[in-house]
Amino acid sequence: MEGIPRLTLFPLTSEVGSGGHLVIGGCDSVELAGEFGTPLYVFDEFTLRRKCAEFKEEFGRRGLETTVIYAAKAFINKALALIVKEEGLGLDVVSGGELGIAHSVGFPLDRVYFHGNNKSAEELRLALDWHVGRIVVDNFYELGMLDRMAGELGSTPDILLRLSPGIDPHTHRYIATGIIDSKFGFPLTRIEEAVEKAVQASCLNPVGLHFHLGSLIYEAEPYRQAIELALSLANEMKRKHGFELEELNIGGGFAIQYSLDSPAPAIAAYAEVIASRIITGCRELGLELPRLTVEPGRAIVGQAGVALYRVGVVKEIPGVRRYVMVDGGMADNIRPALYGAGYEALLANRVVAEEADVVTIAGRFCESGDILIKDIRLPAVSAGDIIAVPDCGAYCLPMGSNYNASLRPAVVLVREGRPRLIRRRETFDDLVRWDLI
Ligand code: LLP
Repeated sequence: MEGIPRLTLFPLTSEVGSGGHLVIGGCDSVELAGEFGTPLYVFDEFTLRRKCAEFKEEFGRRGLETTVIYAAKAFINKALALIVKEEGLGLDVVSGGELGIAHSVGFPLDRVYFHGNNKSAEELRLALDWHVGRIVVDNFYELGMLDRMAGELGSTPDILLRLSPGIDPHTHRYIATGIIDSKFGFPLTRIEEAVEKAVQASCLNPVGLHFHLGSLIYEAEPYRQAIELALSLANEMKRKHGFELEELNIGGGFAIQYSLDSPAPAIAAYAEVIASRIITGCRELGLELPRLTVEPGRAIVGQAGVALYRVGVVKEIPGVRRYVMVDGGMADNIRPALYGAGYEALLANRVVAEEADVVTIAGRFCESGDILIKDIRLPAVSAGDIIAVPDCGAYCLPMGSNYNASLRPAVVLVREGRPRLIRRRETFDDLVRWDLI
């Protein structure tokens, strides 16, 4: 990787192979693009499994009983759900659909946490019927509905109450979730009422609290603040309402490094602050240590995924800009257009070449805002070259669309030189499958 700093943003197995081609999981990315077509999403199985293991190791060795659950919204399909299952993680699902995917591969549903700020009655019913491990109750409406439904079914689900702690995690405002003005969770000013109702509910078993501060959080400090707040709240609720904090779920939000100038803390650094604050806080308050649950999404799957695009048109506007147009864009990765998210890239078919020109990588969709990367220095690019964008494993495909009636890309899992197609590219038939005339 020496001499090519951007390679460090790619999956852990990435290297430069013969002919200067980018190799991921032992597979030549240019050959993958040829065989499976572009845009292509390539996931490196080693990186995926390594990140799962790292979360378990780092959070598991700090004196707290810890459960790591993967936030499926970052990206889930059958193959991925099976990997997460094999690695012994649980799953955070946020819809009946995600729950259905887990169910379809026999994911142990007692390791599933069901989230959502507006779960439907049908979804809650499914969660009860399938005995999911935890339902994370978000609001009073859900609390009442779940208690009634559980009563009808004669069950007593384990629930967590989602607290919105009013802490700013210093991230993009669209992905800050634990602030005061948030649609998620019980506001601090009403959490006591929620605890009281949950404790008194005849068919609910409140086992703890949950918060999720937001996503792409580059500091550990907001977690520390939120933990202090949650523990002192738990202490008060224990005294007043006999509420026992058996489990504290601190959500996800752990950042990854998208660009060379914005390094993210190591998983160990988050784990140290979070675990030590819980242990010290409980000691100070005389509380029993709760079990800890963490819900990483991006930090498990982000670095494992690479998007490959083929260059078509290169358009020069003298003195203004050189546009390099690729065969994907905002339909497979809306993040730059939606959040102004920044990405790096390499030329997959000429990784070692000198960087020469500053170009702008534009997508193929009918929006001027469909720009994947503004102003990036790359070797001279021409039609047919393959652009590889790292850190595309999280939130690209699940937020993807069929905009301009485009076909959603294929997804390939690579491992030790063998590619495995884990989602086929859509076809024109897929586009009209649901249409009736
Ligand atoms: N737990 C809960 C309750 C969540 O809402 C989320 C993400 C996570 C865990 C996982 O967060 P992570 O570890 O992946 O940061 N579409 C945005 C991100 C939205 C995150 C939504 N909730 C993006 O592309 O940046």
